[in-house]
This record gives sequence, structure tokens and C-alpha cells, in this order.
Amino acid sequence: MIPVLIDCDTGIDDALALLYLAALHQKGEVNLVGATTTAGNVDVTQTAINTRWVLDQCGLGHIPVLPGQPVPLKVPLTTTPETHGEFGLGYINPGPQHISQHLNQQHSPSNWQDLWRDAMSQHADLRLIVTGPATNLATFGPTPRTTLMGGTYLYPGNTTPTAEWNTWVDPHAAKTAFAQATEPITVCSLGVTERLTLNPDSLQLLIDALSDAPIASYLPEMLRFYFEFHESQGEGYLAQIHDLLTVMIALGKAPFTTREVTVDVEADSELMRGTTVADMRGHWGREPNALLVDDADVTAAHAELLRAARNDSKGQ
Ligand code: RIB
Ligand code: CA
Repeated sequence: MIPVLIDCDTGIDDALALLYLAALHQKGEVNLVGATTTAGNVDVTQTAINTRWVLDQCGLGHIPVLPGQPVPLKVPLTTTPETHGEFGLGYINPGPQHISQHLNQQHSPSNWQDLWRDAMSQHADLRLIVTGPATNLATFGPTPRTTLMGGTYLYPGNTTPTAEWNTWVDPHAAKTAFAQATEPITVCSLGVTERLTLNPDSLQLLIDALSDAPIASYLPEMLRFYFEFHESQGEGYLAQIHDLLTVMIALGKAPFTTREVTVDVEADSELMRGTTVADMRGHWGREPNALLVDDADVTAAHAELLRAARNDSKGQ
């Protein structure tokens, strides 16, 4: 049973990643020890509300959810309701949720760090999975066995010509996270994660597999917003599920390959903000700090999602 801590900015693809993690937790394949959130798709309070709501709908109301750092390290916060909807879950409004006794007061940012510290001290093989901006990761310091969704390497950005959203939202955090890494971070970047998509037909397969799970009834209106957004971007009536593939890779649940590289991030340039560069040939003479995923089997990922979603005891 793999212990997992997820740090997310729940949004729609984060929500599907949480749904998948919850299914594995219910099957006893992972032990989801907690979730923390950053600001990105929507603000940090809403990402925490959304994360709480998704886990509650998946029967994991006992798993702690804590908001992390409220804003990026240096740049002002930019959110993207046009991509993920007013509340971050497409057309779904999760309503008010009880997140933490601290949220209603001025919550102490340190309590999310206590959750990280406790999880790492109690679980020697803990996997940390970051599917939003790296604000919490940079703030906390070096972490072991970490997988991050972010960046784009020799591949068009989705936020600027050279930048991917998570890294663009908090470029200083991404730069810091790679600079302070004491073991390579597994990096799932756009060139790989854009390849895992859902469309209305594959969404229906997921809904059928989920059967009477409460979360299933919300997916059509959650994903319709995402389908419409991607169509407006010329991608077709589909949704790229970046964070779900990231979680599968972090857990080794879908085949993938990596190459050892040294990553650095442009943080201060206006035009090149959030640009990620991977030194693959040792030009910089610096220790590698990343395992860049360069291929993943998305067909296997689709099958894995349906396997996890089926709650039959055989688990096939
Ligand atoms: O660029 C894709 C990433 O940005 C995903 O994590 C998505 O949730 C958004 O946060
Ligand atoms: Ca995300």
C-alpha cells in the first residue's frame, strides 16, 4: 500500500486525479494520508473547498485537507476561471465546505507544513504528488519521492508560447523547487500530459465504471465546461487530463520512460516568465535535478482509470 500526499489546485483535472486516488485508496492500493492545496486554477480557499468536496463525494471525508500558501512567492496571483469554471469544477458549485478549523480564522500557513512533516516522518516511502503551482513545494524545502505536473520542454506552452500554466502562475516557486531538490523530481510536462484526454464517449465509460458512486453524477457538468474550453482553444471537444496521468506515473500505474536532466526556470522575465529548460547534455555542468518523463502509455492509462473506477471486489 503506497502512502501518498497530494498537493493540488483543484480544478477539473485535479478532481479526476483525486477521484482516481480515492478509488485506489478504497481498494487498499494506496494510503492517501492527506491533501493540501495551492492557488492556481482558483484561489487557495476554493481549491481547498473543491478538494474537500471531491474527497467527501468519494467517501474519504476523514482524510485531512488543508489550504497551503495563499499566493505565489513573488508575483501576484492569477487564476483561470475561464478554464476550470467560476468555482474551479466546471459548471458544478460545491457549495460551502468545512475545510479546517483554521480556515475560518486567519489560518496558520504552518499547519499544512505540519501535515507534510508528519506524513514524511510516519511513512518512510511516502510519495508526494504536486499537480498545481509549486508554491507549497518551494516553501517547504527539499522533499523525497516527488512527482510534479508542470513545465513544457521543446513543446508549445499552454499559457505563453514557452510556459505551462502551473509554472507560469508561480515561476519563482518552480525555480526554487528544482534548485533546492536533493533528489530528482519526476516531471510530467505538457508534451506527455496533453496526450491523456477524455471525450464524451470515454467519459461515459468512466461514468458507467463508477456505477452508483456519488461523484459520477457530477462528472457530466464538470467535464462539459472543460470540453467547451478545449474546443474554444481549437483542441476539439475533449479534455486534457494532465493531473490524472501525473498521479498514475507517480504510482507506476501506467508504463512510462524518463530521462535524467537538469531543469531551470525563467522567473523574472516578463516575456519568458515560467519558461522551463531541461539541460539534457550536461552543458551547465550541474547535478541532474529531474527525471523528465518523455513517454507514457496513454492507452494503458485509460484502461487503468476504468480498472480503478470499478468497485467490484475482483478489482480487474
Ligand atoms: O497546465 C496544466 C496544469 O494547469 C494542470 O495541473 C491543470 O490543473 C492546471 O493547474
Ligand atoms: Ca492542477
